[in-house]
Amino acid sequence: MTTTRRMAVLGAQWGDEGKGKIINYFAPQFDWVVRFSGGPNAGHTIYFQGRKLVHHVLPSIHIESNSRGFLGSAMVLDLEKLEKEVAKFEAEFPGFGARFTIDPDAFLILPWHRQEDELLESRRKNFIGTTKRGIGPAYADKTARRGIRLGDVPRAELRTQLHELYDLKRSLYGEDITGTPAEVESALHREYEALMRFGLSVRSTIELREDFAKSSILYEGAQGMLLDVECGTYPYVTSALCGVAGIHACGFGTMAPTAVHGVIKAYCTRVGEGPFPSELLGEQAERIREAGGEFGATTGRPRRIGWLDLPALRYAALKGAITHWVVTKQDVLNGRGGVSVCVGYEVDGQKVDTPRTPADFQHATPILKELSGWADRSDPSFRKFLDFLVGETGVPCSFVSHGPGTADIAAF
Ligand code: IMP
Repeated sequence: MTTTRRMAVLGAQWGDEGKGKIINYFAPQFDWVVRFSGGPNAGHTIYFQGRKLVHHVLPSIHIESNSRGFLGSAMVLDLEKLEKEVAKFEAEFPGFGARFTIDPDAFLILPWHRQEDELLESRRKNFIGTTKRGIGPAYADKTARRGIRLGDVPRAELRTQLHELYDLKRSLYGEDITGTPAEVESALHREYEALMRFGLSVRSTIELREDFAKSSILYEGAQGMLLDVECGTYPYVTSALCGVAGIHACGFGTMAPTAVHGVIKAYCTRVGEGPFPSELLGEQAERIREAGGEFGATTGRPRRIGWLDLPALRYAALKGAITHWVVTKQDVLNGRGGVSVCVGYEVDGQKVDTPRTPADFQHATPILKELSGWADRSDPSFRKFLDFLVGETGVPCSFVSHGPGTADIAAF
């Protein structure tokens, strides 16, 4: 394919919106699928020939197309998990690994980062509810200028870098930090070599610039705009850039997306702690959780449930430069008498249509409006719900997904 289309698919709520399926739907039309942020905290679920496949780190390339996957430099990589993921796909789809290239500038998640994540979480008064995959500590070391990159693994300096980092971690956390630098070094070498044997390549965006310049690129977001470290509901966020800033950070600024599809559920979910203004508790939440299978793809945790939150979406659209909505899980709300939507927040006695800062999420009381429920997606009440979403946010809707299968999607 020689078109030059560039498109991003981002989560526009708190992650888990069903991005995997949407990316998989679009992927055959693109030469490259690029993951630009996060790490194994993500879980993108797709169904292929009736089989459920979960990508945590590898971009969700379409198995039957020729698309290739790129893991960008703003990601954090746990080579142990990456090797396992590649091995799993290779066993089912031989030759799969050779379709991926990793940027040598991506930083590594080391075993010490996973230990640190656990330790920090256990010492916090206000839990964040992290996935304990070492994401936060790996990004913290990157920003503190002591991170270790994938490209460092084959270099002799790796040993000194590991020793310095280990000494620091031990001085901070004592014997809770386990695994000597020598053990970590040999594991990194083994995992790196295993990845190379699977055919993955390591090349930067500079080396691949001519290829990218003539290619169509699909940018695969991870987590969601409201978990973005810069503009999400801080501190209850992940440590990565989840929006278009992450695409630029990876060196794709000159190949920026011209369409940004924000994936949203017809309702809302959140895993982990933090503000969730439209949260629904009790039996109603339980029913939606069961109907929607709302349990984390990465940690299996039950997801918190809430009504569609328009103030949050207005905020996400502005911060994330979102040009279209893709609504998922429409079918989960089939057959309900009524459906509520959060149309505004009341913050300190004032009505707020769009949160001004993340603090507004923390102090919001939701203003709810009840709309008619629908029997299925052909019901005019569903059309009214969509029109309401579009009218209230000023963002058009491009697609609606009405089931887990790849074909369960319709253009709007
Ligand atoms: P961390 O990314 O593991 O540091 O977790 C920080 C917060 O982001 C926690 O509330 C997690 O539950 C949430 N989080 C991280 N990754 C995902 C995801 O892929 N989907 C939904 N929530 C996520």
